[in-house]
Amino acid sequence: MQLIEARSTPVPDGCILYDAAYVRHGLSELFAIDEWAARGALEHIPGGRGSVAVIRHQGERWILRHYRRGGLAAKVATDRYLWMGAERTRSFAEWRLLAMLYARGLPVPRPVAARYLRRGMSYTADLITVMVEHTATLAQALRAGRVEADVWRQIGATIARFHAHGVYHADLNAHNVLLATHEAPSSVPRIYLIDFDRGRIRSRGGWERRVLERLHRSLEKVTAATGATLDDAQWRALLHGYEQAR
Ligand SMILES: Nc1ncnc2c1ncn2[C@@H]1O[C@H](COP(=O)(O)OP(=O)(O)O)[C@@H](O)[C@H]1O
Ligand SMILES: [Mg+2]
Repeated sequence: MQLIEARSTPVPDGCILYDAAYVRHGLSELFAIDEWAARGALEHIPGGRGSVAVIRHQGERWILRHYRRGGLAAKVATDRYLWMGAERTRSFAEWRLLAMLYARGLPVPRPVAARYLRRGMSYTADLITVMVEHTATLAQALRAGRVEADVWRQIGATIARFHAHGVYHADLNAHNVLLATHEAPSSVPRIYLIDFDRGRIRSRGGWERRVLERLHRSLEKVTAATGATLDDAQWRALLHGYEQAR
């Protein structure tokens, strides 16, 4: 595994933090979404909130995410956050956390670059990660109705690994668990966790259980939307994988 080399460089009104071992050229254009679109190198991810785009660069696909507030607040302030210093921007914090998790060998997307643009006391933020290819989100897989017990156990075991490293995921839901199915079709997919916005390292505690409960609620919601109810055996398989890996 190639090491990440964190480097930052100022840009007009802001700064970019990036992996100097990975980004070979074109740093200043990386976040120019309009230029990507003009070059026909932009795809949007179906089903997303519309703030995630796929860009093609260096022969790979990368995911560019613009940070937006979710929920009710989204109607008022869309994408601006209160400035509290560069390292406390959403994008730099997530980039640094991902870099640490990636270096520890945890299954997360490789972080490429993070940017903030500041105006007075507020800023906007963007993050680029390497796209994990051939994936479905757990939500998509559930809707397609093909998640086997082994997969549930594997998801539980993966979450336990993150928890053993003290990794708190602030929004672990069925859309933030990816199943990568590019290996032999019959084998258990590799599980990735994504979207570490507001995530952090914590000492072990009751939050671990709450993270699982949040995922459980999300799974119930996704299943309910298909008119079904979540099979309790599936959730128990996940918990079983979690406990076994602890
Ligand atoms: N590195 C990645 N590889 C593959 N798919 C990704 C990656 N990052 C995001 N996605 C896809 O984009 C969706 C939205 O990305 P996410 O980081 O969860 O942002 P948000 O939840 O704020 O919209 C994910 O649910 C997933 O389908
Ligand atoms: Mg998400």
